[in-house]
This record gives sequence, structure tokens and C-alpha cells, in this order.
Amino acid sequence: MKAIAAAPGKTILVGEHFVVYGEAAVVMAIDRHVEVAVTDREDPSIHVSSNLGFSGIFMDGGYKAEKGGLAGRRILEPIRISAQSVLNALNARCGLDIEVCSSIPTAVGLGSSGALAVATVAAVGKFLGRNLSEEEVLALSTGAEKFVHVTPSGIDQAVSTYGGVIVYSRSGGVSRLRTEMDIPIVIGNTGIQRSTGKLVDSVRAKHRRYPEVMKIIDEAAGRLSEEFIEALKACELARLGELMDIDHGLLSAIGVSSEALNNLVYAARRGGALGAKLTGAGGGGCMIALSTLEDRRRVAEAIRRAGGTPIIAGKEDSGVHSWIS
Ligand code: PMV
Repeated sequence: MKAIAAAPGKTILVGEHFVVYGEAAVVMAIDRHVEVAVTDREDPSIHVSSNLGFSGIFMDGGYKAEKGGLAGRRILEPIRISAQSVLNALNARCGLDIEVCSSIPTAVGLGSSGALAVATVAAVGKFLGRNLSEEEVLALSTGAEKFVHVTPSGIDQAVSTYGGVIVYSRSGGVSRLRTEMDIPIVIGNTGIQRSTGKLVDSVRAKHRRYPEVMKIIDEAAGRLSEEFIEALKACELARLGELMDIDHGLLSAIGVSSEALNNLVYAARRGGALGAKLTGAGGGGCMIALSTLEDRRRVAEAIRRAGGTPIIAGKEDSGVHSWIS
């Protein structure tokens, strides 16, 4: 018997960084997934293999590398943490064979670790005969996200669990925003991995040096998120694009864009995008371009010619789901 779960990655449409200062962020699940398959194992160990080139066995608190050397332990540990949290919660004692197949690039802000944690929890739950509720999946995937991100807001897990579009703020928590509209995007990956923590620290340093100026930019970003939510509810694609352009300006103002990101943003706009901005922490990682369905290929080509790796994507309405094969 094989239990499988798939969970989508994410992109932040607007509000990254400003969310740290209390403003709302709007986050969308994308149609790129992590798939986790769980099968039976004769011994009580947890065997993990991933299409990222690592595999190994966790047993009695130790790790035995099979592929990718000991560096694989840190990469695969979140999978063990997620699996173990489900075994503990369901009072189960058994070995597991876990196979991960991801189509989400890592460490570029597309929520691969959140999706992995959520899919692992759902797959292990299914393997043990339980369809875990969304709340249970969220709670049981927190340990792995803490291991990766230390103080995660929880937004990545939430959007991977629920799918669709989510609004998050510190005071309001997570709420789901139902919208019927297609949100076609092209993600442009600069290929430059970056540390979210360092970028958040650099913005904090700016807040210390220029508190009055930064306060005004934060407030503008907060108003922008409100207007963006209105445009989503009204299904106005062109207005969403304009607001994304403004948001890129605000993110550039606080110092988290880069030449590579700007190049892709301008190339996408020239290629016919309705709007384009960096997404996530910045400093490298990815940008997103909003486009009509018809223009997505043209925008993708413009991003490719400017040196980025384009990913044609869209809103994924389904959150995590699991099945037996
Ligand atoms: O690039 P990501 O997905 O790690 O996005 C980080 C979003 C920030 O607002 C910059 C940080 C945060 O914790 O909200």
C-alpha cells in the first residue's frame, strides 16, 4: 500500500516585508507541487529519499547517509520531524519509507519547505489510515517549519494546506480570500539563493536609521494591500498589475530588490506583463509577472532572454490532498 499527498507551493502577491511591521500580505498557492509517497518498512527506521539528490535512514537518533553524504541530514531532517510528529500524535510505532518528488525550486521564496512539511504530514496520516483535518495538518507541520525558518509566520503552511489565496497579518492571522478569477503569472527565477533572515534584518536596520520615512512607506504598503484585496474581489486583473508595479517600487525603496531582479521585472513589463515585482524576501530569488493567459508565453520568453528561468504558473485552488495508490 502506498499513501501519497501533494501540496502546492506559494508566491507572495503583495505585502512581503511590510507584513513584519503589521501590514497585510496576500499570498497565492501556485500550481507547482511537492508530492510525498509513504510505504511500509520492515524495520522501525524512517527512510527518506528526495529527487533533490539526497537519501538516508534515520534510526535511534542517528542518520545513515545513502546519497548526498552527511549534508543530506539537514535537508531531510524536516521530513523526519513531520513524519515523527504524526507518528507521535497518532500513537503509532512503525518504520516508514518516504519518497519526495518536488517541482518547486528551493530557497527562492516559493514555499517549498512549507509544502514539503504539509505534504509529509498528510501522507503519513493517510498511510496510518487517517484523513487529517486542515487544522491537524497545520499544527503537525509546524515543527518542521520551525526547524527550517526558526520563527515562521505560518503563512507558507497555511497556503499549502488551504490552496487558493490567503490574506495574512500579524493582528488578523490567516484568512482565506475566495476569488473566482484566474491569476496567471510567470515566475522569473534569478537562480540566486538568499537568506530571508538577512534581508529582514537589513530592513530592520533601515527602520532604526530612518523611522519616520520607513513608517510612511509601511503605511503606503498597507494601503496598497487593501486596494489589492479590493481588486481581487472585483476580479480586475489590470488594476492588480498596476498595484504590483507600485509594490515593486516600495520594495525597491526599502532596499530588497537587486539588479538581477530589476532586470527581470523590466523585461517582463516590456514583454507585455500587466505588472511585475519581486516576490518574497528579495535580494535574489524570484520575481513574478502578472499577465493575461494569452501573453504568458511572451512574458516567459522575455524573462528567459533577460537571464532568468521562467516558470509559467497560476492559482492553485486545491490545498493539500492525499490518496492511496
Ligand atoms: O521569500 P520568502 O518566502 O521567505 O518570504 C519572506 C517574506 C518576508 O516578509 C520577507 C518575511 C516574513 O517572515 O514574512
